[in-house]
Amino acid sequence: MPDFDVIVIGAGPGGYVAAIRAAQLGLAVACVEKEATLGGTCVRVGCIPSKVLLESSERFVMARDHLAEHGVLVSEVELDLGAMMERKDKVVKSNTDGVAYLFKKHGIERFTGMAELIERGRVVVHGEDGDTELVAENVILATGSRVAELSGVEVDGEKVITSDHAIALEEVPRRLVVIGAGAIGLELGSVWARLGANVTVLEYLDRVLPTMDAEISREAQKVFTRRGLEIRTGVAVTGTTLTKRGVSVHVEGANAVKADTVLLATGRAPNTEGLGLEAAGVEQDSKGFVKVDERFRTTLEGVYAIGDLIEGPMLAHRAEDDGVAVAELIATGVVGHVDHGLVPNVVYTEPEVASVGKTEEQLKEAGTPYRKGVFPYQANGRARALGATDGRVKLLAHKETDRLLGAHVIGARAGDLIAELVAALAFHASSEDVARLSHAHPTLSEVVKEAALAVHGRALHI
Ligand code: NAI
Repeated sequence: MPDFDVIVIGAGPGGYVAAIRAAQLGLAVACVEKEATLGGTCVRVGCIPSKVLLESSERFVMARDHLAEHGVLVSEVELDLGAMMERKDKVVKSNTDGVAYLFKKHGIERFTGMAELIERGRVVVHGEDGDTELVAENVILATGSRVAELSGVEVDGEKVITSDHAIALEEVPRRLVVIGAGAIGLELGSVWARLGANVTVLEYLDRVLPTMDAEISREAQKVFTRRGLEIRTGVAVTGTTLTKRGVSVHVEGANAVKADTVLLATGRAPNTEGLGLEAAGVEQDSKGFVKVDERFRTTLEGVYAIGDLIEGPMLAHRAEDDGVAVAELIATGVVGHVDHGLVPNVVYTEPEVASVGKTEEQLKEAGTPYRKGVFPYQANGRARALGATDGRVKLLAHKETDRLLGAHVIGARAGDLIAELVAALAFHASSEDVARLSHAHPTLSEVVKEAALAVHGRALHI
């Protein structure tokens, strides 16, 4: 019976990072993963493959529609979807191989199969060659999430698909209907629209990206519509029916929408099936998330949970931060604090959308007095040179103390620009602090500086 200090269940960004950090701190670590390759949803079928396809499809559109503006003439731009998918698979493989290399380097022992928690410190791996029992002082649950079901919508993997399938279609669908205008719906909807599909996005709430700042999400909706997505908000999908030719998507109070392919993107749910939680005494909340305290401890001693499995932003980088914190806690007893309120949220559409901290609506609701500074990409020299003038940076600062409370960006490289603002919020910077920092010219980061200046009506280039 192999004996370890820590058993990590799940090798996604939360689990594999926890395993590496625990090994770095000298612990004997086992990691159980049901899939043949490491890296979890993010690396295998989520963040990484979708970003590869976003990049490739953006280049296709650039070559087809925009190179001529730059005086670069190309004849006959054609799509080779097979080659695009092959490149995506190669990038995914280099990432999954990279995690396997890191496991070897750190002496992490890997077990393949479904893990079941039997009791405190005891896990059984149901593998292809039978069961293996593992024993350890500590167990970290990091099994992530899966696509949430929507009643009336039956996923068959062909006509009605999820993100798992939408990164691997063999041909461009003629009419793609996307249910849900969150990150997944908009990113993958954009990929297929760029490659030639007629894409309609159906969103239940009154705007796309409904958890983002409303001003930014309204701008996002306008820009994505200009990019060719048909977006219908306030539409509740009640189910789908397969027809001879495709799929009918039923919506409340209106005619069904016809599609060849339907992408279900209405959220994700924690992955707890088969883990043996209830029998072992690990409690879950009403939404299925594993209950933990501020030290990631579940209701069963010696068992911890992190990432998408517990309440909080369902994002890879947040799971990684949880993984480091829990490994350090187990190894050293020191509480690693992860502030889930300062986790940046990025949507990798074109343009990108990124945010950290409070939205304007949240500040209003809390009665917090604030000032706002907004600056458009349109007035930035580098954005003009790039031909990327859509978008804006919006900063929210406390009216009396000037402390930054929220930052929201829509525009080129928003996902990179947000890093400075995460640091600013984490270090309790004021808008004045950001405004007085030297920002290289000509860069997009000057839009951030100008938005900080705009908080007190001092923007220079508008
Ligand atoms: P989501 O929760 O972000 O968005 C789902 C959308 O579907 C919501 O806007 C919701 O109002 C809508 N919806 C729900 N039921 C509906 C119905 N019956 N009819 C029409 N619309 C309906 O979920 P999503 O996009 O599936 O992503 C899942 C998780 O993965 C999220 O936590 C997301 O943040 C994360 N993720 C993050 C990415 C990133 O950071 N770039 C990329 C992909 C996923």
